[in-house]
Amino acid sequence: MKLARAFAALVIACLAVLGCIQAVTLEVKEGNSTCIKAELSASFSITYNTSSSTRTVQVPLPDSATVDSGSSSCGTDDSSPWLVAAFGPGHALRLSFATDGSQYSVATLALQYNLSDSSYFPDANSSEVVTVVSTSVGIWATINTTYRCMSPTTFRVDGATVTFSAMRLEAYMPGNDLSPTESVCMADKASTTAPTTTAATTTTAAPSPAPPGTPERGTYSVNNGNGTVCLLAQMGLQFNISYVSKSQNKTVQDLVNLTPNLTSSSGSCEASRATLVLTQEQTTTLSFTFTLNSTTSRYHLSGIALLANWSDMTAPFSVSNIGLDYLRSTLGRSYMCNAEQTLVVEPTLSLNTFRLQVQPFGVTTNQFATAEECQMDQDQMLIPIIVGAALAGLVLIVLIAYLIGRKRSHAGYQTI
Ligand SMILES: *[C@@H]1O[C@H](CO)[C@@H](O)[C@H](O)[C@H]1NC(C)=O
Ligand SMILES: *[C@@H]1O[C@H](CO)[C@@H](O)[C@H](O)[C@H]1NC(C)=O
Ligand SMILES: *[C@@H]1O[C@H](CO)[C@@H](O)[C@H](O)[C@H]1NC(C)=O
Ligand SMILES: *[C@@H]1O[C@H](CO)[C@@H](O)[C@H](O)[C@H]1NC(C)=O
Ligand SMILES: *[C@@H]1O[C@H](CO)[C@@H](O)[C@H](O)[C@H]1NC(C)=O
Ligand SMILES: *[C@@H]1O[C@H](CO)[C@@H](O)[C@H](O)[C@H]1NC(C)=O
Ligand SMILES: *[C@@H]1O[C@H](CO)[C@@H](O)[C@H](O)[C@H]1NC(C)=O
Ligand SMILES: *[C@@H]1O[C@H](CO)[C@@H](O)[C@H](O)[C@H]1NC(C)=O
Ligand SMILES: *[C@@H]1O[C@H](CO)[C@@H](O)[C@H](O)[C@H]1NC(C)=O
Ligand SMILES: *[C@@H]1O[C@H](CO)[C@@H](O)[C@H](O)[C@H]1NC(C)=O
Ligand SMILES: *[C@@H]1O[C@H](CO)[C@@H](O)[C@H](O)[C@H]1NC(C)=O
Repeated sequence: MKLARAFAALVIACLAVLGCIQAVTLEVKEGNSTCIKAELSASFSITYNTSSSTRTVQVPLPDSATVDSGSSSCGTDDSSPWLVAAFGPGHALRLSFATDGSQYSVATLALQYNLSDSSYFPDANSSEVVTVVSTSVGIWATINTTYRCMSPTTFRVDGATVTFSAMRLEAYMPGNDLSPTESVCMADKASTTAPTTTAATTTTAAPSPAPPGTPERGTYSVNNGNGTVCLLAQMGLQFNISYVSKSQNKTVQDLVNLTPNLTSSSGSCEASRATLVLTQEQTTTLSFTFTLNSTTSRYHLSGIALLANWSDMTAPFSVSNIGLDYLRSTLGRSYMCNAEQTLVVEPTLSLNTFRLQVQPFGVTTNQFATAEECQMDQDQMLIPIIVGAALAGLVLIVLIAYLIGRKRSHAGYQTI
């Protein structure tokens, strides 16, 4: 029993070490030309139910994984390119890609697993084929370059996690082989420019500066060529950013508020794409890209990019993700979220938004249209209703108890 457990621990430890995970090469072709190529190692951590408990297993992407040519494709004008790697009986790793012409990114990361496979999922009490999906992955690169990330990077995909390592990947390929120019991921950059980062952050509890408090709410807008307002936004913005600090000579995690009265807004409005660019004093440029799906008449925040050159940074900070799916709403409505919301852009950057209202499409008469509110606001409005209902229930119970009590005591008098 003990031996088995030690062996399991060894297998897991082994999986965690790079060399032990198998590297696979996957290629999607159309005719004779390759459009997606990936060399990577992947492992999945999956939690499932047995009849008596829940169990978590580590499943590596085996080197027997093959590209499923039926569901993989190079994409067309209307559909995204897909790389689907199938393995075992009904398991698959799926990646879809998106591009804006200058960058490409992983738009969807999905994992499909078949709980009937008892070699991976012993004693599972279900035989379902489960698919979990994430649409904010943060893998992106300049077009005609190869995305490279040697560091292990973990993505949460619903209840499961996917860890990639030793990854080289390209979509929308100009040739049949990976481009020699590479877009290196942040994790690799951090580990080469600051090799002591992890040691420093785990061993010393550096005195962190006082948190900056809730940011002030700014009002921003974008004008059309002819001067009419086409995009409206109001929000308080806070960066949660990790960069290499000049003064502390290590990677720091910092919270920084955007100051509205030092910030100017610009941008552009097109039929199905609107951009809001916020610039603070030549040192910070933050852009939001909204996309409208004209078939469904729904829009969402699809991209965030930040370029920052702050005085304490050893190098300018640049992060962008065009595969996001936040702030979903309907054409002709605005999107509102008074509660604090966190928009994760990349592991090194997330944005906290406060008292947010935006309308990137269909603005008329310089005013916000009716708002669709985020779930958090709706939940917060529910609390007083629930409390009120509970109080009303309590009053009713007391009243009924009182009435029953009175009736009983009347009955009591009659028998005497
Ligand atoms: C693919 O390559 C083969 C052999 O090089 C050639 O015969 C064939 O015509 C090519 N097909 C296309 C679609 O280019
Ligand atoms: C396990 O079972 C519980 C209770 O039925 C359910 O809520 C949970 O989602 C299940 N977990 C998985 C991973 O299927
Ligand atoms: C599987 O087990 C969980 C508890 O571990 C239980 O809640 C669930 O109902 C079971 N599902 C089936 C299909 O038996
Ligand atoms: C799931 O696994 C079972 C047993 O290995 C197999 O019979 C079944 O066809 C698989 N399902 C899919 C969708 O491949
Ligand atoms: C990418 O490379 C292809 C072929 O070399 C070229 O036609 C295209 O313009 C390049 N795209 C960019 C954005 O550089
Ligand atoms: C301004 O341009 C937009 C489209 O570019 C148009 O819909 C709108 O009517 C124009 N407004 C005025 C006042 O010309
Ligand atoms: C900032 O980001 C870090 C790492 O992602 C997270 O642990 C922390 O809770 C975040 N802080 C705030 C205030 O959002
Ligand atoms: C920063 O840290 C590195 C590694 O700890 C060290 O080699 C370097 O001298 C330090 N630089 C400064 C300016 O303190
Ligand atoms: C910006 O606003 C703050 C507080 O509201 C004020 O103290 C500061 O003077 C303002 N700065 C400018 C440049 O207007
Ligand atoms: C619009 O939404 C539909 C339905 O969700 C989807 O099939 C389609 O691909 C979307 N179009 C674009 C351009 O994203
Ligand atoms: C960043 O700021 C420093 C001074 O603060 C300046 O010397 C440098 O040129 C800036 N870098 C970029 C890329 O703008």
